[in-house]
Amino acid sequence: MLHRAIARSAVKAQALGTTSRPALLSSQVRQFSFTTQRSNNKSDDPENDPLLRASSPEHQGKFARTDESVQIEYPPDSEMPAQPVVQGRGGMHFKRTLAQFSLENKVSLVTGGARGLGLVMGQGLVASGSDLAIVDLNKAEAEEQAGKLVEQFRKENPGLEQMPNVTAHYADVSNPTSVQEALAEILEKHKRIDNLVTSAGFTENFDAISYPFDRMKKLWGVNVDGTYLFATGVAKHLMERKAPGSIVMIGSMSGSIVNVPQPQAPYNAAKAAVRHLAASLAVEWAAQDIRVNCISPGYMLTALTRKILDENPQLRDKWISLIPAGKMGTPEDLMGAVTFLLSDASKYITGADLRVDGGYTLT
Ligand SMILES: NC(=O)c1ccc[n+]([C@@H]2O[C@H](COP(=O)([O-])OP(=O)(O)OC[C@H]3O[C@@H](n4cnc5c(N)ncnc54)[C@H](O)[C@@H]3O)[C@@H](O)[C@H]2O)c1
Repeated sequence: MLHRAIARSAVKAQALGTTSRPALLSSQVRQFSFTTQRSNNKSDDPENDPLLRASSPEHQGKFARTDESVQIEYPPDSEMPAQPVVQGRGGMHFKRTLAQFSLENKVSLVTGGARGLGLVMGQGLVASGSDLAIVDLNKAEAEEQAGKLVEQFRKENPGLEQMPNVTAHYADVSNPTSVQEALAEILEKHKRIDNLVTSAGFTENFDAISYPFDRMKKLWGVNVDGTYLFATGVAKHLMERKAPGSIVMIGSMSGSIVNVPQPQAPYNAAKAAVRHLAASLAVEWAAQDIRVNCISPGYMLTALTRKILDENPQLRDKWISLIPAGKMGTPEDLMGAVTFLLSDASKYITGADLRVDGGYTLT
């Protein structure tokens, strides 16, 4: 019926346009309405109209709704796949680029940097000239990956004598004491911190009624408190140094839309909090030349999501069907975005939310 109503109005409007276009009055314009109208027309009977039948109560919401039976489980720690270091993206002389994008002589800190997006973003920062402090709950993996990052950098920059300083540090980002200890350790090793990326975070799927409260608190603790604690800790250090700095918080498209079919209300709300925290701190710290921005990734193919989707092909197909770009992102797709937001190339950008989602949030 909607289509027919529009078509009818369009025909009327067209007639008005050809005969009396200059005299289009508001009363005439109002006829061009998108509101569906009641009609006695027999063909408006749902039984005869596939569109109406598909919109009948028993079908409504069938496709865009959460489904509490969808529970994506993280593998146990022993089976967590390590993220491979990316090949062939760095190097001093690959391609010429604007000097503004360089992070030369900067020290960057990435939380959750041992795996997934954090690791590959960290690699992007190293390729762009920065030293790097990787912070993670899993210190052994952070140390191993720090070594691999330097090794990869060496391969991509033959002949270069000075290697980046990449260090690994333990922190539970949700614990204030642990965060303070990690910051002190990093300052001892690197002498300063210029940039921060908060990538430590995770998601979980329970329908809201069944979500165990202690797990919800943990999810908020890591995604929200962890972001807040590192941001305030690094900003305090920058203010004491009277130095400019740049902070990038890793939110998610889930902070702006509701994913389907997996239910994850607390995660979505936590990521909305991260996005607005970035905006709020951007205003609070603008006068001190500390920029705070958010990157909101869509579905990204990390080693972990790859494992989960290999085991759930239906979910993979469902997710991909909802992405205008027709494919999931890769961690490498964030390398340029994070480098841009930390570098002088984005000097006048603060409080922004950069969605890297293949267009997901547009539809
Ligand atoms: N992968 C995606 O599709 C996707 C999409 C949108 C947003 N994100 C967000 O990006 C960030 C990184 O996700 P990922 O896919 O790389 O996840 P991941 O699980 O591969 O990596 C997360 C890292 O954070 C660390 N970590 C977890 N809890 C921690 C804690 N309490 N303290 C310190 N470190 C901790 C883990 O050990 C791990 O190394 C998260 O905030 C996530 O919500 C991911």
